[in-house]
Amino acid sequence: MQLRFRNLTKSYGQCPVLDDISIDMPDAHALVVIGPSGGGKTTLLRIIAGLERPDSGEVNIDGVALNFDETHLLLHRRSIGTVFQAFNLFPHLTALENVVLPLERVHGYDHIQAVEVAETILSRFQLMSHADKKPAQLSGGQQQRVAIARAIAIKPKFLLFDEPTSALDPEMTSEVLDIIGELRDEGRDLVLVTHHMGFARMVADHCLFIDGGKIVENGPVESLFTEPHSRELQQFLGRVMRY
Ligand SMILES: Nc1ncnc2c1ncn2[C@@H]1O[C@H](COP(=O)(O)OP(=O)(O)OP(=O)(O)O)[C@@H](O)[C@H]1O
Ligand SMILES: [Mg+2]
Repeated sequence: MQLRFRNLTKSYGQCPVLDDISIDMPDAHALVVIGPSGGGKTTLLRIIAGLERPDSGEVNIDGVALNFDETHLLLHRRSIGTVFQAFNLFPHLTALENVVLPLERVHGYDHIQAVEVAETILSRFQLMSHADKKPAQLSGGQQQRVAIARAIAIKPKFLLFDEPTSALDPEMTSEVLDIIGELRDEGRDLVLVTHHMGFARMVADHCLFIDGGKIVENGPVESLFTEPHSRELQQFLGRVMRY
């Protein structure tokens, strides 16, 4: 995946959230975005996903500039698999229906095809015995696995994860991180926000450190973790790696 941002800015009211973000990643396959709370990670991910418009600047993915008019954004959104913190399944639908619905309604599958695809992916994630349960009847880890199944069912260009394990206990966290690692091993491109630094280091090739709406450091994940240049990243790593 090629990812390029040029002078991206975004404010909410008077509050600048992304402050002139520019990067050029000609060959990123797994980009991890790290940084302190409130720094702008989710906002950046939502812009990449086409869920939010920047105030100014350009986003270029695989050589194509994102067009922020509604029609183009809608198509863009449909081409990306997104998994957010938690609880983003449709609560009134079963696990199976959650995967089937976008395939049928948005991606032009007929019902039989959509069910076939959904069942194949749910089996892969050991979820077939839970296929008829609604989200409230599933554990947090199971819900996130369904959300990941739904994201990959649509054959996305790439996957976006925003702290997909933040609402999970350690065991369920490992379950979900294992799946993300597997998807990466299969060659899927992804952008991930996570607080699990060990996992970030294992799975990612590029790393972006955002603090206060600015990119403070950006480069190969190993070099950011082993030789952080800025005081901000040194302090951040010091805080998150303490335990
Ligand atoms: N819809 C919104 N309206 C107003 N302010 C917002 C909105 N969304 C985000 N913000 C503000 O923008 C800033 C960046 O938020 P963002 O969610 O991108 O941070 P983050 O790096 O993802 O933080 P965290 O690690 O806590 O998830 C925060 O100060 C937040 O309060
Ligand atoms: Mg966030």
